[in-house]
Amino acid sequence: MVELGVNIDHVATVRQARRTVEPDPVAAAVLAELGGADSITVHLREDRRHIQDRDVRVLAQTIRTKMNFELSVASEIVGIACEVRPHQATLVPEKREEVTTEGGLDLRPKSALLMEAIHRLRDEGISISLFIDPEREQVEIAKELAVDAIELHTGQYASSKGSRQQAELDRLIHAGQHAVDLGLRLHAGHGLTYNNVLPIAAIPNMFELNIGHSIVSRAVLVGMQQAVSDMKRLLMTTV
Ligand code: PXP
Repeated sequence: MVELGVNIDHVATVRQARRTVEPDPVAAAVLAELGGADSITVHLREDRRHIQDRDVRVLAQTIRTKMNFELSVASEIVGIACEVRPHQATLVPEKREEVTTEGGLDLRPKSALLMEAIHRLRDEGISISLFIDPEREQVEIAKELAVDAIELHTGQYASSKGSRQQAELDRLIHAGQHAVDLGLRLHAGHGLTYNNVLPIAAIPNMFELNIGHSIVSRAVLVGMQQAVSDMKRLLMTTV
């Protein structure tokens, strides 16, 4: 069955709205694990708008499943990831003005910062995933960079409907197949909800889905453990 990574950034978003100590994303991570999360994802952004340095350090000692540390290629943040040594690091693009991660990394320039980030993380023995758009060329460059996994950006799929959505799903299936053929582990995420997740979970060889906003939104109403177990139960129907 596909693994569920629960992104708890928005628990920290609520806390930062008042710059206080609650709700604590560490408590949310414990409850997410009790609900069946296979991993906990956090994005330490350069502007620290939600997750803080303290969170990643305490989470690294608390998480009993796996920690997926999302980060940009910024040298400072890569340094923190190297100290914290999560199970997995997912490199994402980051723009200060964006509300959330808007697109995948463009791997084509093979920027010096990207290459350096990959080397530093790899030297620490951290599994590396690259968040990319579902394009054949990006998948091929990810393979050249010798990372472990790619996370396909499902944002376009999530925000479209009808035949357009089917076309986006086809793009994801083809890019995913190509990644698996090249020996990369296949992940996906962004904009996935209880209503649109199943076709993505059913993509052959899908290994991990990272879901944040939809689960945290439900958690506000029914609690984190319940929200995560609802998603897990849904994903089980694809086995
Ligand atoms: N995967 C990546 C790489 C992301 O940047 C995000 C958003 O932080 C997610 C998954 C989760 O997206 P959402 O909150 O829309 O479920």
